[in-house]
Amino acid sequence: MTWDEEYATVYEQWSAHMTADVPFYVSLAGEANGPIVELAVGNGRVAIPVASATRRSVIGIDTSPEMLAQARERAAAAGVDLDLRLGDMRDLVLEEPASLIYCPFRALLHLPTWADRRRTFDRVAASLEPGGRFAWNAFIFDHRIASSLDGQRQEAPVPHTMTYASGDNRIDITLDSGAMSSLWWATRNEWLGLVEVAGLEVEALYGDFDRTPLNDDSGEYVFVARR
Ligand SMILES: C[S@@+](CC[C@H](N)C(=O)[O-])C[C@H]1O[C@@H](n2cnc3c(N)ncnc32)[C@H](O)[C@@H]1O
Repeated sequence: MTWDEEYATVYEQWSAHMTADVPFYVSLAGEANGPIVELAVGNGRVAIPVASATRRSVIGIDTSPEMLAQARERAAAAGVDLDLRLGDMRDLVLEEPASLIYCPFRALLHLPTWADRRRTFDRVAASLEPGGRFAWNAFIFDHRIASSLDGQRQEAPVPHTMTYASGDNRIDITLDSGAMSSLWWATRNEWLGLVEVAGLEVEALYGDFDRTPLNDDSGEYVFVARR
């Protein structure tokens, strides 16, 4: 099985611990008057509660047909409307400008290079209405966590091994079957640089989904930027 095929089958287990982000993105969506878009929508874990709370359709973009199939099924079961589109966030194009574009669960870290991220931020800026928001979260790299996890097989939430390639700021996640995916971590200044070159402005930078301001002990960047 490819990573996408296998990941879709284990994604509910993989993401079960991640719940705190949902009310955060739901509350931003509640303040959006126009189209709402989730980049890397996955199985609809966040988009479904967003669509349910706002009673509006959410456009969800993802490169994985397997994840989109799960999102379709789960949205139908929840009775909400998702406009699911197979596509790459680097090529984002919308028919009308969005009020809110958001990208949860560190999915921007799947983009390997500055150029990939720059292109994505440019596409986001071009797709937002004036005053529209872009929100995302990404873990803060911590060498203490890295050294404790590097090369160690972990049973939970799904058996896997993480290896850290510091020179490429990359983490390879390998499932027991051998299916592998990578994440490339970014620093606060890289995020701030992306915001600036895309012509956006940082509205808020939190260190948690409860809107605690970022501090030296934070584990997560939670960004809200505005066009
Ligand atoms: C950790 S999951 C996040 C899913 C969902 N947003 C959530 O919060 O549960 C990462 C998702 O990113 C998707 N993905 C990875 N690279 C992508 C890209 N370049 N464009 C769009 N989706 C991408 C994967 O297929 C996967 O569904």
